[in-house]
Parts: sequence; C-alpha cells; structure tokens
Amino acid sequence: MTSGAVGTDSRVITITTFTGVRDAYRQKALRQALYDQGALVMADCLLDLHGEQHRSRRRLENRLFRRQTFEMFEREVLPETIEAVLAPAVGRGRGDLVSLGYRAVMNLTARIAGIDRTEGTDEETDALLAFAVKFGEGATMAHSTRDRSVLEAEVASAMAAFDQRFFQPSLARRRALVAAVERGGADPAGLPRDVLTTLVANVDHLALPEEVMRREVAFYLQAGGHSTANTLTHALDDIFAWVEGRPDRAAELAADPTLVQRSVHETLRLHPASPEARRRALAACVLSDGVTAEAGDLVVMDLMAANRDPQVFGSDAAVYDPFRRVPDGVAPWGHSFGAGMHACIGMELDGGNPPDGAATADRLLGTVTLLACAFLAHGAGPDPDRPPVGSRDSARSHFSSYPVVFAGARSTR
Ligand code: HEM
Repeated sequence: MTSGAVGTDSRVITITTFTGVRDAYRQKALRQALYDQGALVMADCLLDLHGEQHRSRRRLENRLFRRQTFEMFEREVLPETIEAVLAPAVGRGRGDLVSLGYRAVMNLTARIAGIDRTEGTDEETDALLAFAVKFGEGATMAHSTRDRSVLEAEVASAMAAFDQRFFQPSLARRRALVAAVERGGADPAGLPRDVLTTLVANVDHLALPEEVMRREVAFYLQAGGHSTANTLTHALDDIFAWVEGRPDRAAELAADPTLVQRSVHETLRLHPASPEARRRALAACVLSDGVTAEAGDLVVMDLMAANRDPQVFGSDAAVYDPFRRVPDGVAPWGHSFGAGMHACIGMELDGGNPPDGAATADRLLGTVTLLACAFLAHGAGPDPDRPPVGSRDSARSHFSSYPVVFAGARSTR
C-alpha cells in the first residue's frame, strides 16, 4: 500500500495486494469515486449510488439477472445473434474483431437495457454502437487522454441524439405497457424483462426523473457492451498468441469450450476492463494492512497489480496460463468483476460460472466464451497484413482495431 497527496486535494492511498483490494471492496465507508468526472453519463446510475439508494435500485434490477434468463440467452438468443453478425465477415474471409464483437454484443445489451430495435438494420446497430462507445468514453473520463471540454460536448450531443432516436420511443412504449397493467387490463407477465421497464414500473417508488432513467439505460449499454467487446478482443489476442505454432493447443481449444472459458477467465484476470477501482472515504476506516483512510481520502485499488499478486497467483502470476489453478475462495478472474455492493450484475451472464464450481447441468459458459468459440469455430486468426491497433484515447489498454482472417481466407493465401 502506498499513499501520497494530489496537489492541495486529499490523500491518495493506493492498494496493490489481492487481499487489500478484496477488503476495500467490502468497506461500507468507501464510496464509489471512479466516475466523479463522468457525471454526464454516470450521475445517479446504479454504479454511482451508495447506501440505501443503491440497495433499493440494485434489489429491483437484480431480478432481471437470474440464472434462468442467462440460460435462455445462452441457448436461444446468443448463438443466432453471433452467427448473424459473423456470417458476412466469414463469407468475405476477413473482418475486424473489435467491430464484429461490438455488433454482436450490442443486440444483447440493448435488449437487457430496454432499448427497442425497430429497424433491425446494420445501420441501426452501428448507430447504437457509436452511442455506447461515446457513453463509455464519457463514463471513463478519468482515464481519457483527450481534451475534457471537447469530450464533454461530444457526450452531451450523443446523449441528446440517443434520446431522440432510441430512448423516447422505447420509453413511450414501456409507459403504455405499464399503464395498461396498472389499469388492470393487461397481464404483468407480458411486460418486457429489461432495465427500462423495471424503472418505469417503479418510477414513483424510486423517485426517478426521466434524465436519470436515460442515464441508467445509457450506462447499461456502455457497461455491458464495452467490457464484453473489449474482453473478447483481449481473450482472442491471448489465445492467438498461445496457439501460435502449436496446432495441438489449437485443436484442444476447438474441442473444448471449457478450456476456452478458462482462457477467457485468465484474460479477464490479466486485462481487467478498468485497470483500477476508486473509492472516497466517507468516514475514517481501517484498511487491511492497518493503514487508516481518513474521511475525504481517495482509495485507489490497483486491479492490474492485485490480479497479479504472487502471494495469491504464484510466482508466475503475470504469465498467461489457461490451466492455472487458483486457491479456494479466489475467482479465476481475480477482481475483474469487482466485489461487495457494486459487484458486477452481469458477471454470470458474461463470465458464466467457474468450471470447477458447478455441476454439468448448471454450467454456463458466458457470453464472452460463446463469442470466442464462434470466432475459433470459423478458424479466426490475426490478419498477417494488418496488425492490431491500440486505442490512443484512453489510458485503458484497449484495441481500436483488430483485423482477423477466417479459415477459408487463410488456406488460400
Ligand atoms: C467482461 C465483461 C464485464 C466486466 C469485466 C465487468 C466489470 C465490472 C466491474 C469491475 C464492476 C464494478 C466496478 C466497481 O466496483 O467500481 C461492474 C459493475 C457493474 N456491471 Fe459489469 N462488467 C462486465 C459486463 C457487464 C454486463 C454484460 C453488464 C450488463 C448487461 C454489466 C453491468 C454492470 C452493472 C449494472 C454494474 C454496477 C453494479 C452496482 O453498482 O451495483 N457488466 N462491472
């Protein structure tokens, strides 16, 4: 643990150990602080609420994230959605992993958020995607390397355009459906199972202004879309490097979705969607190694370091190893889905359940693994003529482009 001061501001305490981060996630006196600069997208969103306000919203939204729903997504919705997105690129023999990944997850995320897709066209998916990317940039302004006022203007203009094209029609439809149920003329079981419907149905109880509902839905779009698509790109990048020159490994992966899932979990550990979590101390609290955070102190949880803590993951903690075994009580993805009150609501949907912890009948592979399996099944590999490009606009390690070729195209080279 290190501490220091930022200008005349409060003290900054940085935690780098696995157990230190685990403890900090559970401290009730530590309040979310990563989105202090991302208020245009994040103000009053679930991830930015604290205490009772957070508890009551989370209780409601949790109802949507049930095992049965995930099973339905995994067996019925995802396979079709992924193939529909991949088919044209596979036909061409090449595509871009980043945009294909985003397109595939956007349909799923829009459905969970409660944004209607009335046209079902690629143009519509890309428009939604562009909004989600901009909202992601706005939410993570703390890590942006761009001019803040320019970025803020872009985010505000994206929010206004998103409102007009997607949010208002989706909101109007849900208000009408909920009103019909409240009048007693319609069956509540027929309501869409999504975040926006849940908010509309509880608007009085939660005292939610429309702009908060809009931001919550925008937050879901970017939280679900961005982390899923980025994890997919990192996962396939790691897999491509791991199988390079090793056909035995490629064959093993192709035959074993559980090994792909282990690979995805190992990627999640080494490439957390956010390199850090931040909390502000609301009152003095003692952190795991005895250091006291005073009210107002900023606590930075260094997830990159904690997820590579040799005390927990061994002396080869920084090495990518899909066969890694982790100690009991430690998730294979380390702290990459968070913990405590803000633990990721989409963790099981995206990560499935750990291969060692569930009976076969209850196994969920998770969205990222299913996406990775689909790319591998089509023989995807890096495009030898066009190397991947990293994003220059954020301190987060993301790819902005990752050209891939599919099996047919590779064998005819
Ligand atoms: C690989 C994919 C994902 C990763 C790595 C990820 C990571 C995280 C992390 C680290 C947090 C906690 C942040 C903190 O404590 O400051 C979080 C919270 C959250 N995530 Fe995810 N996430 C992923 C996918 C998703 C998906 C698919 C959804 C929804 C469709 C989602 C919705 C949320 C929500 C709503 C929260 C806030 C929970 C709360 O404050 O109670 N995430 N996620």
